[in-house]
Amino acid sequence: MKIGYLQFKPELHNPAVNTEKVSDFISGADFDLLVIPELANSGYLLSSIDELEKISENPDNGKYCAMLKKISKKKNACIVSGFCESTKDGSQNVYYNSSILVFPDGKFRIYRKTHLFYNEKNFFQSGNTGFWVYEVPSEKYGVVKIGMMICFDWIYPEAARTLALRGAQIICHPSNLVMPYCQNSMYTRAIENRVFTITANRIGTDAIGKDTVSFTGGSVILNPNGDYISRASVDKEEINIVEINPNDAKNKFINDKNNLFDERREMFYYR
Ligand code: ACM
Repeated sequence: MKIGYLQFKPELHNPAVNTEKVSDFISGADFDLLVIPELANSGYLLSSIDELEKISENPDNGKYCAMLKKISKKKNACIVSGFCESTKDGSQNVYYNSSILVFPDGKFRIYRKTHLFYNEKNFFQSGNTGFWVYEVPSEKYGVVKIGMMICFDWIYPEAARTLALRGAQIICHPSNLVMPYCQNSMYTRAIENRVFTITANRIGTDAIGKDTVSFTGGSVILNPNGDYISRASVDKEEINIVEINPNDAKNKFINDKNNLFDERREMFYYR
């Protein structure tokens, strides 16, 4: 199974340009599952709700999600991408920092970021979807189970653990990382759960007046043994694809006596 990520720099508050940019990047790539960074249609920094209304979209009819659906169908491949979501709560507009999983048949699933980071709290609702696992069709492997989490969710081990306990073989992790810890920490997420992880990070800097934030690139893919099977540069736009056997993630034995999941002793864990 060919899995990978796009690492790029979205144009701040320019969904039309980002839709074209992502389409150009991924149209020529050969993959079964591709992950694209957090807030890929909009960029990261926000300064007002008016602006958020203009750059967010509903996944049922938004242009960025439509582009992903079209390419997914054409390639008979799945795509996961972070995007800035708008929806209605009664008569009120609400916004989520979301991720879409697009299937070749046009169906899609949404994950909404559970753990918002810093000023994201001023604009987005905390995610209300929870962590779920979806079956992706694979010609070679039948069905492959994948889950989604977004960026800062990584710092809560419960996020990846929940996905792994629900059967995820591959954790898709659209990101806009600003701290230097995650790329190394995904090693632990991969080995403690014995899963594949794909962290698709962005590069560059967003600026609104004096408010600036820089992103750390270095997108990574890990296998269940904790090997970095792909690592991107810290400052270049790139798309990288690797071949894996997703069924390697079904074996939870770390040696011939320790099965990581069978031996969990929940009665001693804090809830
Ligand atoms: C982050 O969660 N985007 C830092």
